[in-house]
Amino acid sequence: MIPSKFYCFGGIVTMFFFFFLHPLPNTFASPTRSLCRHDQRDALWELKEEFPNHANDDERVTTLSWNKSVDCCSWSGVTCDAVLGQVISLELQSYSSVNTSLKASSGLFKLQHLSDLDLSHCSLSGEIPSSIGNLSHLTYLDLSFNQFVGEIPISVGDLNQLRYLSLYSNDLRGNIPSSFANLTKLSDLNLKSNQFTGGALILANLTSLSELNLSYNNFNSSISVDLSGLHNLERFIGNDNSFFGPFPSSLLMISSLGMIALDRNQFEGPLDLGNMSSSSNLGSLDVSYNKFSGLIPPSISKLHSLAVLDLSHNNFKGIVPRSISSLVNLTSLDLSYNKLEGQIPSLLWRSSMLSSLDLSHNLFSSFNKSVEVVDGASLRELRLGSNSLQVPFPQWLCKLKDLWALDLSNNHFTGSIPQCLKNSTSLTELRLQNNSLSGFLPDIFTNLTDLRSLDVSHNNFVGKLPTSLINCTYMEFLSVKGNKINDTFPFWLGSLQILKILVLGSNAFHGPVYNPTTYLGFPSLRIINIANNNFVGSLPQDYFTNWTQMYMVWSNEDSPESEYMGDDSLIYEDSIDLVYKGVETDFKRIFQAFKVIDFSRNRFSGHIPGSIGLLSELRFLNLSGNVFTGNIPPSLSNITKLEALDLSRNNLSGEIPQGLGKLSFLSYINFSHNHLQGLVPQSTQFQSQNCSSFMGNCGLYGLEKICKENHVNVPVLTSQPLQESLSDSKEPVLNWIVAAIAYGPEISRPFRSSRLDLSL
Ligand SMILES: *[C@@H]1O[C@H](CO)[C@@H](O)[C@H](O)[C@H]1NC(C)=O
Ligand SMILES: *[C@@H]1O[C@H](CO)[C@@H](O)[C@H](O)[C@H]1NC(C)=O
Ligand SMILES: *[C@@H]1O[C@H](CO)[C@@H](O)[C@H](O)[C@H]1NC(C)=O
Ligand SMILES: *[C@@H]1O[C@H](CO)[C@@H](O)[C@H](O)[C@H]1NC(C)=O
Ligand SMILES: *[C@@H]1O[C@H](CO)[C@@H](O)[C@H](O)[C@H]1NC(C)=O
Ligand SMILES: *[C@@H]1O[C@H](CO)[C@@H](O)[C@H](O)[C@H]1NC(C)=O
Ligand SMILES: *[C@@H]1O[C@H](CO)[C@@H](O)[C@H](O)[C@H]1NC(C)=O
Ligand SMILES: *[C@@H]1O[C@H](CO)[C@@H](O)[C@H](O)[C@H]1NC(C)=O
Ligand SMILES: *[C@@H]1O[C@H](CO)[C@@H](O)[C@H](O)[C@H]1NC(C)=O
Ligand SMILES: *[C@@H]1O[C@H](CO)[C@@H](O)[C@H](O)[C@H]1NC(C)=O
Ligand SMILES: *[C@@H]1O[C@H](CO)[C@@H](O)[C@H](O)[C@H]1NC(C)=O
Ligand SMILES: *[C@@H]1O[C@H](CO)[C@@H](O)[C@H](O)[C@H]1NC(C)=O
Repeated sequence: MIPSKFYCFGGIVTMFFFFFLHPLPNTFASPTRSLCRHDQRDALWELKEEFPNHANDDERVTTLSWNKSVDCCSWSGVTCDAVLGQVISLELQSYSSVNTSLKASSGLFKLQHLSDLDLSHCSLSGEIPSSIGNLSHLTYLDLSFNQFVGEIPISVGDLNQLRYLSLYSNDLRGNIPSSFANLTKLSDLNLKSNQFTGGALILANLTSLSELNLSYNNFNSSISVDLSGLHNLERFIGNDNSFFGPFPSSLLMISSLGMIALDRNQFEGPLDLGNMSSSSNLGSLDVSYNKFSGLIPPSISKLHSLAVLDLSHNNFKGIVPRSISSLVNLTSLDLSYNKLEGQIPSLLWRSSMLSSLDLSHNLFSSFNKSVEVVDGASLRELRLGSNSLQVPFPQWLCKLKDLWALDLSNNHFTGSIPQCLKNSTSLTELRLQNNSLSGFLPDIFTNLTDLRSLDVSHNNFVGKLPTSLINCTYMEFLSVKGNKINDTFPFWLGSLQILKILVLGSNAFHGPVYNPTTYLGFPSLRIINIANNNFVGSLPQDYFTNWTQMYMVWSNEDSPESEYMGDDSLIYEDSIDLVYKGVETDFKRIFQAFKVIDFSRNRFSGHIPGSIGLLSELRFLNLSGNVFTGNIPPSLSNITKLEALDLSRNNLSGEIPQGLGKLSFLSYINFSHNHLQGLVPQSTQFQSQNCSSFMGNCGLYGLEKICKENHVNVPVLTSQPLQESLSDSKEPVLNWIVAAIAYGPEISRPFRSSRLDLSL
């Protein structure tokens, strides 16, 4: 100790010298007192040399600026005890690209007086050396966001002064060592995002814990111990693990506990809540994505402070207990994806706190007769989709003026959409598809100017598209598929600047889709389906030139459209899932890269516009079932991403452009029932199709491999007249996109081919 005192003293002498030699100005600059002990400086210096850091980043605290001729207590990131000159706190953020592992002999472990150590984001790799146990004064240890690997050394148990320990986002595995039982002062433990598998139960005795985060690991035990001794616990976060067995109800005896997150585990059996603290402060309970079954326990209402309750994605059945309505502070209730049935509890509408209610994907069949919406009800999100609700469109919904998302899809709602829905001026998402709604689509959209997603597909709507839709300037998704809408092509929608998906298929639309005096617009279109209508006329050669989104390449990093990957993306996820029923939710792909043109089953004539070849990012092109004539445009071979191409049932003639043979993603092809002739490209893509893809063309050859050997020329198929299939209002048996998926190894990745109805 003597040398260091000398040092400190020497420092002060130097300072006096300084004062004498330089007359001071009036403002008394406070010079740094030299404190640093030699041993501490040397240890730090060793550390600096272990961490070669060349990143010259002023934003970060690094060892780069450390300089031996300066007092080490003033080095960046270093704090010393003001009296003793011992380093008590070290905080570095190197962000260096260099992979450094902490050696057991690292200078770091000579800084034995450290109480705070923050080496988060330091690109540390390798194991945590057991010498960490030398730093027995540590109260704060943050090693988050490194690449540590291996198990936690037992010696961590020696750090019995620790109050804060974060190992968040590393690659640690194995068990939490039993020596953790000694960390009796620990109040905040964060092990999130590692690969731990066991040892979590040892934490049951750490009575100082207030925050415990075990999420995103591989913990795979039952939580069988009594946790009620954790009487300071405020947040218990264990989601995304493989915990199994019964719900750890002893947690509910801890009155300080505000949050339980155990979603995405393997818990099972009934949700037994056990003895609950009568002064429960539990504000949030999330047990979604488990295997709980049985009834929702009525005693859940004793958790009277609950604001967020998520029981979704389990196997709960029966009716929702009435008592749930006494949770007066509930703001978000998610019971979706269970097997709940009966009436939707009426009292829910009486709460002025409830802002989000998701009861979708259950078996609910009715509303309580005495639905009473309180004034000031602030429900913003109401999801009742995929139930068995067989009632008229509820008028009282109009009282929910703050409604932002309304999903009544996949039920049996009847009647028409009430005019009063225009009172819900905040609506951004309106999903009414797959019901039995009828009448005209009301002209209410002047007031719904925030609407981004409207799906009324598969109902019985008649009449025209309401022109007030033009006021929905944020509209991105519009589907009216499968109704009886009798209208001309809505050129006027072309001014919607961000409309990405337009689905008009299977209605009674008619007339041309091109007007020489009207600018086509639709600058953001990526998916257009106008199939199975009565559209007519020819398309000019430059028809597709302005659909620039169809040739915009999207990449993860530099997307100008990355804003859609924010929270907004959730709005469309399900809508699109319904358009592409059965598509595995690789939402990024669908929304960013899925570009589709489906003009099939109309009466388009003339030549296929050569400008189609500009749409280099197009994945699916269906022009089948029209009366297109002339050659297949050679420019098609420029659509290098094309995965499915259906030109069947037209009057096309000439040869199949050999360039199409080079389209390596092309996995579904249908050229049947045209007047094509000549050599079919010999590429794998063509030669792995079914023979039927080329049937009904008298002059094609080069199909020996796929057609019967004695049929070099494909026979003309005359049994089914074209007209018959056109007038068939039902979906075609062979669905072209489905077929593409079944055929194509290239494109099958994001799809699940079991549920096969991908018709647009
Ligand atoms: C270290 O500090 C001294 C005195 O302030 C200075 O002269 C020297 O250039 C510094 N060295 C480095 C490498 O910055
Ligand atoms: C860092 O080290 C790990 C394990 O030794 C290695 O897998 C990784 O590629 C390294 N990273 C860099 C950037 O050198
Ligand atoms: C750890 O402490 C022990 C004594 O307590 C000492 O002998 C050893 O050198 C220290 N290890 C390091 C790496 O400083
Ligand atoms: C806890 O600490 C005590 C004394 O410091 C020690 O004897 C014991 O082995 C430690 N327990 C564990 C599990 O490491
Ligand atoms: C907690 O401590 C008690 C008594 O000290 C002991 O019997 C029990 O095994 C400990 N529990 C765990 C999980 O370590
Ligand atoms: C509901 O919230 C209010 C305001 O935060 C609070 O005063 C009240 O005690 C809560 N009610 C219950 C039953 O927890
Ligand atoms: C809709 O709003 C108007 C005026 O804001 C109001 O008079 C009417 O009662 C509201 N309709 C419903 C069903 O709430
Ligand atoms: C609907 O919009 C019209 C025209 O902007 C306005 O006069 C009317 O008050 C709005 N109605 C509601 C209920 O907001
Ligand atoms: C709706 O759109 C029409 C036509 O663009 C416009 O004249 C009208 O002002 C818009 N109304 C509102 C409320 O934005
Ligand atoms: C569409 O409406 C027109 C005129 O209103 C009518 O003549 C025609 O029959 C309707 N078409 C269909 C398919 O309903
Ligand atoms: C494409 O846009 C240009 C102007 O940008 C316009 O002159 C042309 O008519 C548009 N083409 C189509 C087919 O709408
Ligand atoms: C394909 O694209 C290239 C470059 O844009 C163009 O030069 C070529 O003419 C196109 N090929 C066809 C067949 O249109």
